[in-house]
Amino acid sequence: MWRLSLLVACLSAGLLSVAAATTSSASVPPVPSTVGVKPRTQCKCLPGDPCYPSAKDWQAFSSKLSQPLIANQRPLGAVCYPSSGSKFSATQCVQFTAEINNPIFRSGLPNALQYETFEVLFNSSGVVVSECPFDNGVVNATGALCGQGRIPPNAVNVTTVQDIQEAVKFASKNNVKLVVRNKGHELLGRSGGVGALEVFTHNLNNLTFFNNFVPEGAPRNTPGEFAVTLGAGVSWSTAYSQTHAHNRSIPGGMAPFGTVGAAGGWLLGGGHSPLSRYFGYALNKKPGVDNVLQFKVVLPNGTFATVNKYRDPDLFWALRGGGGPSFGIVVESTVRTHPDLPYTGFFFVAQAANKDAYTNLLEVWNRYHNDLNDAGWAGIWPFTGNLLAFTLLNQGVPPFNPNGKPLMDKFLADANALANVTISSQEYVNYTSFLEFDMDVLVTGTHGFNFTQTAPGAPNNVISSWLLPKNITAASRARDMAELFASISGGNGFMVGGGPAATNNPADVSLAPAFRNIVTDLVLLPTGPGLPPVTIDSIDQLRRDVNKISQSFKQLAPPPFGGQYLNEPDFYEEDWQEAYWGPNYPRLLRIKKRIDPNDLLIVNKGVNSEAWDTEVICKTI
Ligand SMILES: Cc1cc2nc3c(=O)[nH]c(=O)nc-3n(C[C@H](O)[C@H](O)[C@H](O)COP(=O)(O)OP(=O)(O)OC[C@H]3O[C@@H](n4cnc5c(N)ncnc54)[C@H](O)[C@@H]3O)c2cc1C
Ligand SMILES: *[C@@H]1O[C@H](CO)[C@@H](O)[C@H](O)[C@H]1NC(C)=O
Ligand SMILES: *[C@@H]1O[C@H](CO)[C@@H](O)[C@H](O)[C@H]1NC(C)=O
Ligand SMILES: *[C@@H]1O[C@H](CO)[C@@H](O)[C@H](O)[C@H]1NC(C)=O
Ligand SMILES: *[C@@H]1O[C@H](CO)[C@@H](O)[C@H](O)[C@H]1NC(C)=O
Ligand SMILES: *[C@@H]1O[C@H](CO)[C@@H](O)[C@H](O)[C@H]1NC(C)=O
Ligand SMILES: *[C@@H]1O[C@H](CO)[C@@H](O)[C@H](O)[C@H]1NC(C)=O
Ligand SMILES: *[C@@H]1O[C@H](CO)[C@@H](O)[C@H](O)[C@H]1NC(C)=O
Ligand SMILES: *[C@@H]1O[C@H](CO)[C@@H](O)[C@H](O)[C@H]1NC(C)=O
Ligand SMILES: *[C@@H]1O[C@H](CO)[C@@H](O)[C@H](O)[C@H]1NC(C)=O
Ligand SMILES: *[C@@H]1O[C@H](CO)[C@@H](O)[C@H](O)[C@H]1NC(C)=O
Repeated sequence: MWRLSLLVACLSAGLLSVAAATTSSASVPPVPSTVGVKPRTQCKCLPGDPCYPSAKDWQAFSSKLSQPLIANQRPLGAVCYPSSGSKFSATQCVQFTAEINNPIFRSGLPNALQYETFEVLFNSSGVVVSECPFDNGVVNATGALCGQGRIPPNAVNVTTVQDIQEAVKFASKNNVKLVVRNKGHELLGRSGGVGALEVFTHNLNNLTFFNNFVPEGAPRNTPGEFAVTLGAGVSWSTAYSQTHAHNRSIPGGMAPFGTVGAAGGWLLGGGHSPLSRYFGYALNKKPGVDNVLQFKVVLPNGTFATVNKYRDPDLFWALRGGGGPSFGIVVESTVRTHPDLPYTGFFFVAQAANKDAYTNLLEVWNRYHNDLNDAGWAGIWPFTGNLLAFTLLNQGVPPFNPNGKPLMDKFLADANALANVTISSQEYVNYTSFLEFDMDVLVTGTHGFNFTQTAPGAPNNVISSWLLPKNITAASRARDMAELFASISGGNGFMVGGGPAATNNPADVSLAPAFRNIVTDLVLLPTGPGLPPVTIDSIDQLRRDVNKISQSFKQLAPPPFGGQYLNEPDFYEEDWQEAYWGPNYPRLLRIKKRIDPNDLLIVNKGVNSEAWDTEVICKTI
């Protein structure tokens, strides 16, 4: 708590001594300045600070890049504000407003994050410090200002390694905050940043397939493997379709329209998938073989490095679970590919008439939860408002696992016997590939719970999570868990554990060892209004509510046995080091201090961020 208050002091004191950005001619509301708050060496240089680079410096920088610097960038909504000067456009205001909930549109823009929630700056009283809301396409002629929020004023549109190296050099030399923005889905807003220089990796789209990939520096005669090299900006959607076109598959997560990146933040943070049940987490290994075989990264000192089990194995360990962008800016990741197999899908949607019936329904589900995973099932199970659904898959048609269908049929018999429960969907579907399943579930929303409806407008922009060890979700505890689940606002269970994900060697990766103990990673959702419009005053309350819920799961399964998934972060989790990494944190910290001695790539709740405020602008200790 004390650290947060210090941040607020830093930001709000800055607000009192505001200075307009010098590089923009249009009317831009001031960014919080740090002048007079801390000695300069302790804070990053923000627009308006005397130490901030001049327009000339930015021009010189731009000339070194493959694409022109995206300079004086404003938030997407700026087009709706006459006060934006040359950036104002009533036509674009209407066009953009029609797209504000389109995840594909948002993910491709350097001046938007996937969720407006994270573009907004607010203080711990829940008061807006800076935002630029859309006003339903209405041009706001009242003279209102479009606040810059966390949208960086300058962005490098990366297409080459050198672009990233130049950005790293420029930010280091000028003490400017540097952020890495890939697809922008990160759930604390860490791919945006106040007054930052943005490294926009979205356009690094190369994919290269190998039938016998051998990491650089491997001993002679090291056997080659099936693999794909993914540019940092490749999305799940592209990765799935391209890999399928090569008769292979890779574990990747589940998002509407597959707009999350396959090679950047997701992968660095752990990367779970419904296919982890068969192939391990993105970062883990099938017995004997790593799924990630090699990273190519730009390090904070500007070096372009190839990192694998032979080249800086310590850094390789840190990159596999230490979280982005703490250990370097990924240019490309090479991951193992797997056979492109058929899957049996199973869809279930049930609505209970009241809380008692809902609890009974959850109890039946909890009685089968672990055993169904043992029988080969994996996927997602959302629950909220007396509704329980699941979208699961099992390898093979019919499932290779002989218990797969019989056990699910048993569950179905028990669920159908429940009073006051209406089951609207209970269906097996045959799929020739994971891609076909993914398209069905996350593009057309054809079967079961329609996940494509949970687009950026949904209230799940504020989340928490807890990794539920298998003994917590044991059949013997089904009633207890059902009561706990029924007592909270809702969640999204990611059944991603079990199989090789449980048995691989935890020492190989820096990811929390808790991932080995779980069947389900539970994303927790607060109650609250849908977004947008961002009713910003309530966001802080949502964060507090969801944190309170996560604490009850934490009590049941404290780290390192349980934990929190760092890619599903809780704003108010105080012991994040232990929750994300358990006993691995001290080693991560040592490697971080070697790789990034000048704190260039620090993010809130990232490795070695303890000394920084939550916006990573000023050191607070
Ligand atoms: C709708 C949705 C569904 C999701 N589903 C899953 C799921 O099924 N499984 C799962 O494990 N997770 C899931 N997540 C969480 C997801 O893994 C994280 O939100 C992830 O960080 C988003 O990646 P991005 O490419 O969109 O990243 P961004 O927001 O652009 O970046 C994420 C973080 O990684 C850093 N980063 C990005 N690119 C690089 C790079 N090239 N080098 C170094 N650092 C980089 C950024 O600085 C930022 O801190 C989901 C999230 C959403 C919003
Ligand atoms: C948040 O900002 C508002 C408006 O500037 C201010 O009144 C309030 O005191 C701030 N809260 C904190 C904790 O600084
Ligand atoms: C315009 O901006 C003002 C000030 O932020 C706000 O009160 C108002 O609701 C906005 N919308 C319209 C349509 O004027
Ligand atoms: C980034 O560069 C690519 C390649 O030149 C270009 O197609 C794209 O429009 C640029 N993006 C932005 C936002 O400038
Ligand atoms: C992407 O592939 C093209 C064609 O092979 C190559 O010229 C380019 O350098 C690659 N880009 C990166 C960032 O590796
Ligand atoms: C696809 O891969 C499978 C094994 O993974 C193989 O049996 C099959 O022959 C391959 N098909 C083609 C067209 O290469
Ligand atoms: C799905 O596959 C099973 C097992 O092969 C088969 O019995 C069933 O008829 C198939 N269903 C459809 C709709 O094709
Ligand atoms: C079903 O719900 C009704 C009230 O909605 C209740 O009276 C009845 O007892 C419930 N039946 C069972 C078997 O729980
Ligand atoms: C799922 O929801 C989306 C978005 O609301 C909608 O476009 C689509 O038609 C739905 N799918 C089905 C099969 O109803
Ligand atoms: C689960 O296992 C852990 C580690 O063995 C143990 O500490 C915990 O008490 C167990 N919890 C339950 C509910 O069995
Ligand atoms: C950059 O950092 C890496 C990793 O610590 C190190 O191996 C390399 O020698 C450094 N390069 C320079 C030029 O300092």
